[in-house]
Order: sequence, then C-alpha cells, then structure tokens
Amino acid sequence: MTRKKVGVLISGRGSNMQALCEAAKDAAYPAEIVLVASNRSDAGGLEIARGYGAETFALDHRPFGKDREAHEREMDAALRAHGVEIVALAGYMRVLSPWLVAQWQGRMINIHPSLLPLFPGLDTHKRALEAGVKLHGCTVHLVSDGVDEGPILGQAAVPVLAGDDEAALAARVLKVEHRLYPACLAALASGKHWVETDAAASLISV
Ligand code: GAR
Repeated sequence: MTRKKVGVLISGRGSNMQALCEAAKDAAYPAEIVLVASNRSDAGGLEIARGYGAETFALDHRPFGKDREAHEREMDAALRAHGVEIVALAGYMRVLSPWLVAQWQGRMINIHPSLLPLFPGLDTHKRALEAGVKLHGCTVHLVSDGVDEGPILGQAAVPVLAGDDEAALAARVLKVEHRLYPACLAALASGKHWVETDAAASLISV
C-alpha cells in the first residue's frame, strides 16, 4: 500500500496533529505525516511532532506584514519539498489567501470546533453556550475560499450538558476531534468518494 504523504499545519499545542501522528503509527493507516509546519516557532506542537519523528518547519508570518501570500509561498515550498500530497490544517490560525487554497484544491482539509455551518470563526464554544444549543461538536471539511466553509467530510456531535462552561464543553469536543480527524484523513487518503454521498457526515458518539 502506498501511503499518502501528509503535511500538517499548526499554530499552537497541536493535539489534533498528535492524534494524526498516533493514527499514522499504524503501518496500515493510509497516510503518513511527513512534515509538521507552523507559523509560530514557539508552537508547542512542533516538539511533539519531532517526538514522532516528523520533520518540522517553522516560519513566523509577522515579518511578512500584510503580504499573506509571500508567507504562504514559503510554507507551500516547504510542503512541496517534502512531497506532500494532502495538507491537514490542525489549529492553523491563519486566514488563507485564495492563492494557497487554489494550490491544494480538494487536497486540503481543516478541523473546526463546531457543527458547521453553525459557528464559523472564533469562540465557537462560547457562542454555542450563548445560543443554547443542546448538541455541539466538530467538523472536518475540505478547504475552500470562504473561512470555515467547503464540503463537509465528517462531523462528530457531543451533548451540551447543564452546568457546562466553555472549558468543559471545549474539552468534550476536543476528545471527539481526536477521533474524527484521523478517520476523515484516512477516508480522503484512501480515495473514498464519500464527499459526494450522504454517508459523508459520520456521527462519532462520545
Ligand atoms: C482545535 O479545537 C481546532 O478544532 C481549532 O483549534 C484547536 C486547535 O487545537 N481550530 C480552529 O478553531 C480553526 N478554525 P490543537 O492545536 O490542540 O489541535
């Protein structure tokens, strides 16, 4: 079996990246993590990635100022230099330019901590609590030009419980993120045409 080469982009602690690295330890998993790259050299996830034997690359976006694409071109070059075939955004807190999105059309996925199309953007758990929803969760989707838009590959739902605060709800969602993301990456890497089917949205229970 040829495993798809995956580059993971992170900005912080990298727990979803870690879940992907864990899954990829199994030789039967259809993807391998060949590069973990970050826009922050102090991202905690970089050290974790090295612990899994993954190559790492860090390039601070700040010196590029408003030239988002110039930063992305260097990130993109690093991905290509490692033979990356699929890019997984895992807590990569940058809005992407249409240029980068076009480079990886159909081959770039993102995990977002809400049941999209509800609560795109930031502070999803706080907004879910404020809205009074009884179900919350996470979504893995193909990346398109709109922020937190694009075809949904899978979703996992969790209950919102009485007495939940933001931290408790975030922790419950994160637990299912760590199961959903490896499952969705595996499906994409093994070439399933699931995006076109009703089975695309898989429910993973707690
Ligand atoms: C995760 O909850 C992920 O869904 C979210 O950031 C967190 C990163 O945690 N992503 C977004 O909000 C993207 N819109 P991690 O670094 O531990 O994986």
